[in-house]
Amino acid sequence: MCQYCGCQEIGPIGALMDDHFEIRNLCGRIRGHVLAGEKGEAVALVRELQRTFGVHNSVEEGGLYLSMTRFEEYEEKAGTLYDEHDALDEVIDDLLAEDAAGRTEGIDFAPLLAEFEILVEHINHEENGLFPAAAVILDPEDWTRCERLRDEATARLDRPLWAAQNAAAPPARFEPLG
Ligand SMILES: [Fe+2]
Ligand SMILES: [Fe+2]
Repeated sequence: MCQYCGCQEIGPIGALMDDHFEIRNLCGRIRGHVLAGEKGEAVALVRELQRTFGVHNSVEEGGLYLSMTRFEEYEEKAGTLYDEHDALDEVIDDLLAEDAAGRTEGIDFAPLLAEFEILVEHINHEENGLFPAAAVILDPEDWTRCERLRDEATARLDRPLWAAQNAAAPPARFEPLG
């Protein structure tokens, strides 16, 4: 996690990092269910992951990555990150299609777990590379577009994302003891 340059102080970057926290959490829980043979539980959380990516990726793809392609030295990196989103989206779509067709028990989670390994590196590249660079070189209008994209994507959801729910009603485990 980038803790040195202060880039998380920029609202849209802080929100993307909060998403990453939730995404890592969901991936760990999904892997746990898969290893325990609990396919139905795993699929339910994959659906949550898809919702989170729906917001997260629209901010990154339509906002941050697009802005960074103005700078030649980041064009290739942004392209790779776009492609990694597409590859993961495809695996998730295929998996959920199997579930929707009633073939949950036959789902092979290996491609998804392999994508999770790539995702760890993807997030590292963002948090330790693209985000700190963006904090230095992007303009206020770029951040305004990121904020607008998040608002629009969130408005399309049927219910709030985890982070928003958490802000509205902190889970019991965060209550002080005693
Ligand atoms: Fe990303
Ligand atoms: Fe990300």
